[in-house]
Amino acid sequence: MKVTVRIWRSSGDSKVGRWSEYEVETDPMERVLDLLHKIRDEQDGSLAFRRSCGHGICGSDGMVINGKNRLACKTLVKDLKSPIVIQPLKGFPVVKDLVVNMEGFFQQYRRVMPYLVNDEPPPPKERPQSPQERHLFDDTTKCILCACCTTACPVFWANSQFLGPAALVAAHRFIFDSRDRAGRERLSLIAQYGGIFTCRTTFNCTDGCPRGIQVTKAILELRQAILTGNLPQKPS
Ligand code: SF4
Ligand code: F3S
Ligand code: FES
Repeated sequence: MKVTVRIWRSSGDSKVGRWSEYEVETDPMERVLDLLHKIRDEQDGSLAFRRSCGHGICGSDGMVINGKNRLACKTLVKDLKSPIVIQPLKGFPVVKDLVVNMEGFFQQYRRVMPYLVNDEPPPPKERPQSPQERHLFDDTTKCILCACCTTACPVFWANSQFLGPAALVAAHRFIFDSRDRAGRERLSLIAQYGGIFTCRTTFNCTDGCPRGIQVTKAILELRQAILTGNLPQKPS
């Protein structure tokens, strides 16, 4: 079968650009990433896009496909209407075509201290954790930092100070980890201006997450922890 693929091409400013259209021979079970490779290899070597793992693990091929944020490597042709319209993620500066500059996104991510903090001397073998304790943050460990949630959020589009849902997911992953000791510090960080109370609970983040993470639920759990002071961690 043949599909029409329409791609927004630009360099440096996503508002200034043009549509390029390609006819591509494909199979319904092929992925959008396969289409992009075919276009670049067989029709237009100047097309720029980012990918790495090809299997939904690295988070590098987030893009807007038929109006929805998705990973190109996890989106099958059979699930899309033709023409397949592809644009870069919204709200980030465009480097070229589908490649966006994610530095601002990672700056917000780093603000929430996305690493385990525990200076207590370790037990002889490991820091034990019960299955119930692990369950509290199981969902948020699945994040691959693709930015599909943050770039679907209307608050992020309007307010560049907003941490964004992906950074809040990272905060949740460590705040609810019973082995961590910096939960209260993180809660105080995310309670500041541009933090968790900037979210308007619009759920776009949850709808846009290709890993199926309950992003809004995690944000509400963080709010609850700030308001009640209840944490599974020992106080730091
Ligand atoms: Fe991507 Fe989901 Fe992580 Fe957001 S929460 S960065 S959409 S994997
Ligand atoms: Fe944005 Fe998600 Fe909140 S889309 S407004 S972070 S619920
Ligand atoms: Fe790694 Fe798609 S290429 S997630």
